[in-house]
Amino acid sequence: MAKRRERRADRHSHSDSSQTPTADKPSPSTSKPDRNRLTTTATVLFLIVVPAISVIVYRILYTPSPITPDLPYVYRQGLVTAKIDYHQVLHENMRTSENSSRRNFENPVLAYITPWNSQGYEMAKKFSNKFTHLSPVWYELKSQGTKLVLEGRHNADKGWIQEIRKTGNSQILPRVVLEAIPVDLLKKKKKREKAINLIVAECKEMEYDGIVLESWSRWAAYGILHDPDMRNTALQFIVQLGQAMHSASLDHNRRQSLQLVYVISPPRSNELEEYDFGPEDLRSLSDDVDGFSLMTYDFSGPQNPGPNAPLKWIYSTMQLLLDASTGVHQKLAKKIFIGINFYGNDFVVSGGLGGGPIIGREYLSLLEQHRPQLQWEKNSEEHFFLYIDNQDVKHVVFYPSPMSIATRLQEALSWDAGISIWEIGQGLEYFFDIL
Ligand SMILES: *[C@@H]1O[C@H](CO)[C@@H](O)[C@H](O)[C@H]1NC(C)=O
Repeated sequence: MAKRRERRADRHSHSDSSQTPTADKPSPSTSKPDRNRLTTTATVLFLIVVPAISVIVYRILYTPSPITPDLPYVYRQGLVTAKIDYHQVLHENMRTSENSSRRNFENPVLAYITPWNSQGYEMAKKFSNKFTHLSPVWYELKSQGTKLVLEGRHNADKGWIQEIRKTGNSQILPRVVLEAIPVDLLKKKKKREKAINLIVAECKEMEYDGIVLESWSRWAAYGILHDPDMRNTALQFIVQLGQAMHSASLDHNRRQSLQLVYVISPPRSNELEEYDFGPEDLRSLSDDVDGFSLMTYDFSGPQNPGPNAPLKWIYSTMQLLLDASTGVHQKLAKKIFIGINFYGNDFVVSGGLGGGPIIGREYLSLLEQHRPQLQWEKNSEEHFFLYIDNQDVKHVVFYPSPMSIATRLQEALSWDAGISIWEIGQGLEYFFDIL
């Protein structure tokens, strides 16, 4: 911003000085020295005063001054930047704009919440306007003997739902994992219908707005997706569920039908395998599924320490899934919630491998303990730091920052896609200021 402002100001003064000759017109009533003085005055006027005024006017009109109350706090404080230090993170991570219900990212935001991390429930309440969809991780559809059961009602927190409904407009779509043995569930028409009925009935009874369904990774693990017939049945099951949810009759005071969001993983490489969820699958489900929660995280692991979700990888995943060369991708992109991690990783990088996910307060405690130098990794567009523990083992820590999140929101906007956050209890409070 500052750079552009300077260039603008330069151009003003250049064009103004080129106009000075017009003030140099000969005037019969003035003697030569007077004319010289006049010319000097005019030149001063044009060279300095006019540009100065135009710069001031320009600034007032076009530049958000650093104290504009409309800018989110993290931007006002200059925290959305590659150059950050541990001290600043420790000092600022709890601070946000006064108005916590103001949205700064205009596309849909789906936020996951886990019952084992109660911080997520609090964040959902505090920033409820910033989320269009909230997905508490509550349900599992299981096989019990020969029967199917939907487990998880005990997790559902009715008081919390009420508070969310009072303060914001977020839809509540609990996550349901299909734990049931896939062959049992998919092979028999009756079982599929039973599963669908269980889900629709729970939504109606608990007054949910729909569900987020996760099943693909389980189907992949059970080998279901290697058999073309079974793969087809599996996709068909999702279509049927979507149709049943969309046609379920709801209470008169509900604005829309039940929503189905489906969880998908990024293909593992450009060469799609049977178990990958690919562009064909996306297209075949898109009429009956309202959104796709794309798990663009965990690019690295203890075996290959590195960034959690390189931006280029997010881009190429979108490109691949949307088959971006075809014209229809824009309509599909709108249905995708690009995954953003609010957790990080602490990996061992010397003397063996190991380590794993860390959440906000663990990150802060590492910063306090080691006072590391935070670095911006350009390739992945993520921050990281190195430290050596008391057993002399070297670690690398990747954890999100306002900058890494901001660049990912930009990426989502460029596709006109939404975002999904795993999960809001694991982040730092100032992350929410950007949303
Ligand atoms: C906070 O922001 C929202 C949305 O922009 C606005 O409607 C509301 O009036 C603001 N509240 C205050 C106290 O400024």
